[in-house]
Amino acid sequence: MAMNERLRTELEEFKKQGVYKTLNHLDSPQAARVTMEGRGDVIILSSNNYLGLSNAPGVVQAGKDALERFGAGTSSVRFICGTFTIHRELEKAIAELVGTPAALSYVSCWNANESVCATLLGPEDIVISDQFNHASIIDAIRLAKGITKAQAAVYKHSDMTDLEEKLKASSGCRTRMVFTDGIFSMEGDIAKLADILELAQRYDAFVVVDDSHATGVLGTTGRGTAEHCGVLGEIDMITSTLGKALGGAAGGFVASSEEACDYLTQRARPQLFSNALPCTVAGSAMAAINQLRAQPEMVTRLHENARYFREQLIEAGFKPLEGDTPIIPVILGETAKAIEMSRMLLDEGVFVTGFGFPVVPKGEARVRCQISAAHTRDHLDEAMTAFKKVGSKLGLI
Ligand SMILES: Cc1ncc(COP(=O)(O)O)c(C=O)c1O
Repeated sequence: MAMNERLRTELEEFKKQGVYKTLNHLDSPQAARVTMEGRGDVIILSSNNYLGLSNAPGVVQAGKDALERFGAGTSSVRFICGTFTIHRELEKAIAELVGTPAALSYVSCWNANESVCATLLGPEDIVISDQFNHASIIDAIRLAKGITKAQAAVYKHSDMTDLEEKLKASSGCRTRMVFTDGIFSMEGDIAKLADILELAQRYDAFVVVDDSHATGVLGTTGRGTAEHCGVLGEIDMITSTLGKALGGAAGGFVASSEEACDYLTQRARPQLFSNALPCTVAGSAMAAINQLRAQPEMVTRLHENARYFREQLIEAGFKPLEGDTPIIPVILGETAKAIEMSRMLLDEGVFVTGFGFPVVPKGEARVRCQISAAHTRDHLDEAMTAFKKVGSKLGLI
């Protein structure tokens, strides 16, 4: 294939490094145990399927029903072809779940984040972002800087003194937006939302929380970081994904005031120029929300499982990052080590992804365990046996 010389050399060099293995092939639905790389017995500890709903019969059936009722797709953007009733039903359910007056669905949370910054901010405005925010927020800010010339600042991770300094330093701005993850995806820790809100109130700032890892996960009934922090109904704007706990297919949303959602409907470029969420996905997400409402005990089981696995890791001699969520990272240092541990665990029938640079900072490569309500104690114990075996082979415990 003819290709630009510089690009070809760079791609070949990357391949030669051999650090990143090819993607693991999954040949079954997401569940506690999956078929991967030809093995039918792999316990998955690396999925955002936090509530085990990706393969729940009601969620799958709702997708099929939506396919029958609405057909394969939307065939256009919403303002051109009309808005399916399933989208409106879903948006109402989302708003009720996360505690806002309204919500607006997107094909992904990535799109939702991009539309928030690029649509709501101009050159007189600033977005102040946590240092460890997800890539989608970082790129959303880059996009806004490029398109609308919005200003940006970054505060040290969860450092409220630094956030306050950034708020003070931007007193001349028309709007100050503070953007934070709810659960930080690589660390597994939770944003200090009550403190952020208090500062935002004092400095007249607007708070946006990306709750992608927290929707369906945090709080006693899974309503997210706001429920966990006791500030439900007080967040100006929440973005999140439907591609993790809420069915896991794809999709995202912005939840906020009716006026903000209407404005984004009319002005956000991903709304105006890109097709709506497929109806099958909307149907499955709707069923996932209904199941979450009806069975909050799924959330309790998720919390208990996460606590149990964390305790077992510590008892075995591992040193996971401190935290209180189903994301439990074990730091290993070099990328090659994280990849090696992941490979050895897969040989033992446990799938945990190793993360290295550039996904996490250099020297902080890790394996990131993610726990689900779908895991039984037997699954977790079996996984722990593999962790102990691999951990002692690698000299970690
Ligand atoms: C915090 C956070 N925000 C946004 C996203 C993107 O979500 P989506 O897959 O819906 O685009 C992710 C996905 O990994 C995420 O972890």
